[in-house]
Amino acid sequence: MLNTNSTGSLLCRLAVILAVAGLISLTFMSLWTSPQTFCLPQQLSRHHAEKNNSLDKAVVDKPILLLWVWPEDYRFDLSDCKTIYNIDGCHLTDDRSLYSNSDAVLIFHKAISEDLSTLPPSPRPPFQKWIWMNVESPTNTQKIPGIENLFNLTLTYREDSDIPVKLQLTSRKIPDEDFEISKKEKLICWIVSNNLKWTGVGTRIAFFQELSKHVKIHVYGKAYGTFLDYKDYFPTIASCKFYLSFENSIHKDYITEKLNGPLAVGTVPVVLGPPRKNYEKFVPGDSFIHVNDFPDAKSLAEYLQRLDQDDEAYRRYFNWRRHFSARPHLILQNQKFVLAICTACDYVGKHKEYKEAHDIYEWFFN
Ligand SMILES: *[C@@H]1O[C@H](CO)[C@@H](O)[C@H](O)[C@H]1NC(C)=O
Ligand SMILES: *[C@@H]1O[C@H](CO)[C@@H](O)[C@H](O)[C@H]1NC(C)=O
Repeated sequence: MLNTNSTGSLLCRLAVILAVAGLISLTFMSLWTSPQTFCLPQQLSRHHAEKNNSLDKAVVDKPILLLWVWPEDYRFDLSDCKTIYNIDGCHLTDDRSLYSNSDAVLIFHKAISEDLSTLPPSPRPPFQKWIWMNVESPTNTQKIPGIENLFNLTLTYREDSDIPVKLQLTSRKIPDEDFEISKKEKLICWIVSNNLKWTGVGTRIAFFQELSKHVKIHVYGKAYGTFLDYKDYFPTIASCKFYLSFENSIHKDYITEKLNGPLAVGTVPVVLGPPRKNYEKFVPGDSFIHVNDFPDAKSLAEYLQRLDQDDEAYRRYFNWRRHFSARPHLILQNQKFVLAICTACDYVGKHKEYKEAHDIYEWFFN
């Protein structure tokens, strides 16, 4: 019984081997007899492989920028940098397993805990740069001790940051002669979501209250209980002759999307923030009205009312548009940090040099 069984299995194995050998030789013969079909796919596949290799290489060659945490947990599609800003110079990721391979790590200031335990692990790879990301003004930045000399690069709204984040006008070579001022239904508008005194808004509240004694202001936004839908944001600004671009706190270079909104849609911004000279570093001096151009709120109100009656004088505030254009900024809540993060990606893709950022608080707060 045992014998027959083992003979049977031997025969069986032999049959399998023969079958496999036959299959191989058959395959071989068929390949041999049809050289074109054999060579063509190989050429193609080699071509594919090269393409694939170069693709892989491109990804590997790009510096890796690791987003250590999602700022305020506002997530977006990381490919937005490419689709929205055409920024593609880094491999942007939130995958912490790539930490030891990351060329730069983007660290959001507000997400650093007092005990620093939320920072990435040390020691960091010698080639790796840490980026201090903070889009708030000093008034709204908490000093967490112990991080002053940890970083390589600063990313803030300040012009003298290593990576400044700012909405910028773009120049046009061919003057735009076709601009038409949109239909205006209101004189002055203001969209305001934050009225918390501790965030530094005292100055703008006081000025608003004084101004509204002399002229009607249409107010929208959370702070005054009339929540404006996102889709109504730009149309609302566009429907007013003037828009109050009042910053929450007053600091050098702290000029935000509050200025960009009216410029983008064709409304004249009335700005409250750093001095006029500071604004003129970023936008033409005849594109806005500065509250400091007037001795008080009353004379500003009178000036705006005069412009309301004088179309020609009002129109002059749009002369800059012939040569420059402003692009609407992203307004959805989860898009709050897209520009900053993409700007970091752009920088990391272009800069490989050694860098240390020391005493960031002394720089930022003074
Ligand atoms: C790259 O290789 C994968 C399989 O590894 C294949 O599916 C893909 O089509 C290839 N891409 C190109 C561009 O050749
Ligand atoms: C980054 O900064 C740290 C701290 O200042 C420094 O020790 C490190 O060598 C710097 N690395 C690079 C790649 O610039």
